Amino acid sequence: MADNTIPSLDLNNGVAIPQLGFGTYQIAPADTKAAVLAALEAGYRHIDTAQMYGNEREVGEAVRESGIARDEVFVTSKLNNNAHDPAAAVDAVARSTEALDLGPIDLYLVHWPLPEVGDYVDTWRALEDRYAAGALRSIGVSNFQRSHLERLLANTEVVPAVNQIEAHPYFQQTPLRTFNREHGIVTEAWAPIAQGAVLDDPVLAEIAAEVGRSVAQVTLRWHIQRGDVIFPKSSSPARAAENSAIFDFELSAAQSARIDALDADRRLGPDPDTFNWVPA
Ligand SMILES: NC(=O)c1ccc[n+]([C@@H]2O[C@H](COP(=O)([O-])OP(=O)(O)OC[C@H]3O[C@@H](n4cnc5c(N)ncnc54)[C@H](OP(=O)(O)O)[C@@H]3O)[C@@H](O)[C@H]2O)c1
Repeated sequence: MADNTIPSLDLNNGVAIPQLGFGTYQIAPADTKAAVLAALEAGYRHIDTAQMYGNEREVGEAVRESGIARDEVFVTSKLNNNAHDPAAAVDAVARSTEALDLGPIDLYLVHWPLPEVGDYVDTWRALEDRYAAGALRSIGVSNFQRSHLERLLANTEVVPAVNQIEAHPYFQQTPLRTFNREHGIVTEAWAPIAQGAVLDDPVLAEIAAEVGRSVAQVTLRWHIQRGDVIFPKSSSPARAAENSAIFDFELSAAQSARIDALDADRRLGPDPDTFNWVPA
């Protein structure tokens, strides 16, 4: 394991996705282009953005200006919570496509199920149409609980390529990850280092000392060995580079088991069953 090559996983439609990406939530639009360019320079080839983050345009600029071939960079975006309606969803795809200006988007997600806002099944059917038309290379969901997925799978044609959910050592999501896997849906773990909350953990610090790596690297490596896709966010190029240097070491089964034992059912973000926030 001498080199640090980022592996890819195959989505259920055959499209390859790099297992490590760069997250852009809470990177201000004015800072996004430089942050994404630095990430690409450090070797990242997968960027996660969303209409809600307000920085799609700057992500697209960075990818275009990087000089890296378009087909070597995987870009994900997500339709905003005010687009839960078939016509609005079609419009959301058009606006994201225009803002990114990178041609067909590699992966487009329904950001939240919003069970009391519109109907995610109708919204999904609109994404299925845009996917069939070639405007999107793959489509998926985010923050979907098992019940939301069951309804989607029973009523639509295209199985989501991914389910992007909150997951980290304190909120491991084992049953939902199992359900995803059983249905050919790749799990993407958002907030992989729990937005910094794991950094003072004594067990992780102990393992970090054992392997000679940082706590962030150990935590990210644990996700990789579970088979999930991750995209830690950092506004610091040095920390972004640190977060990508995780493919030249391994955690032992015993070390992974000690991290598994940290699960505490501690959700940081909103509960998807009750979250129905729509921007003005
Ligand atoms: N689908 C959804 O609903 C959803 C929700 C949330 C997030 N996401 C996606 O997931 C991505 C990652 O999640 P996240 O940004 O919420 O949390 P995260 O990646 O777990 O943590 C980011 C935080 O950790 C710090 N950090 C990063 N690397 C570090 C390191 N090596 N050492 C010390 N501190 C470090 C960052 O600070 P600095 O920037 O100062 O380094 C930032 O405060 C997002 O950017 C977004 O793309 C999706």
